[in-house]
Amino acid sequence: MPGLAVIIVGDDPASRVYVNNKKKACAEIGVYSEEHALPHETTEEELLALIRELNGRKEISGILCQLPLPKHISEETILLAIDPKKDVDAFHPVNVGKIMIGDYDFLPCTPAGVMELIKESGIDPKGKECVVIGRSNIVGKPQAMLLLHAHGTVTICHSKTENLKEVTKRADILVAAVGKANFVTADMVKEGAVVIDVGMNRNAEGKLCGDVDFEGVKDKCAAITPVPGGVGPMTIAMLMKNTVKAALL
Ligand code: GUN
Repeated sequence: MPGLAVIIVGDDPASRVYVNNKKKACAEIGVYSEEHALPHETTEEELLALIRELNGRKEISGILCQLPLPKHISEETILLAIDPKKDVDAFHPVNVGKIMIGDYDFLPCTPAGVMELIKESGIDPKGKECVVIGRSNIVGKPQAMLLLHAHGTVTICHSKTENLKEVTKRADILVAAVGKANFVTADMVKEGAVVIDVGMNRNAEGKLCGDVDFEGVKDKCAAITPVPGGVGPMTIAMLMKNTVKAALL
């Protein structure tokens, strides 16, 4: 049976929601899961000791350490300690490198979920202008690589991009991974574009919303993902896929 160990350090409310959803998905599909909830004061050494123990346990096929970690713990050190064969987030540098060359065991869950949504909607990125807004290690950079593997012509935009609107308006496929509510407005989107919203923000009223002004953009594009209920569930589905795969490695 596949087994997933989920580590959460501290009490970030968003991380708590994500971790609960991941555990629920495991229960739904019959994957064993265990949660390691550690206090904010946990030291890097204590967290490393837990990861080493989980690396050595046969019934644990996947290990996930929910990010962000408290400031006194180095994410780089922690991600490097996870056995690459159990790295179901695909955050270990070995797995990141394997993705670059297109020979991988795991794909990072959110970008893989976006690719699955595109494919299942009958959209082929081949030869298309694909624009990713955001350059994080978790989403933006690997997303660009997966679109490139699918033969898209890929541009990555970020906070220093000049004439952002001119670039995003070229996109046949636009992926927003910015982390700012309503950042992508209708004037930034080409008529008939496919718009994928990776954002998970709270607006002024505390309501969950994405990076895209959904109401303003929806009538202009060929397809759009909502928040919540778009990319989020796909991330979880891809995590389940990676966990099952890890058990077979
Ligand atoms: N924090 C935000 N997204 C993720 C994710 O996909 N995995 C982990 N471990 N932490 C995250």
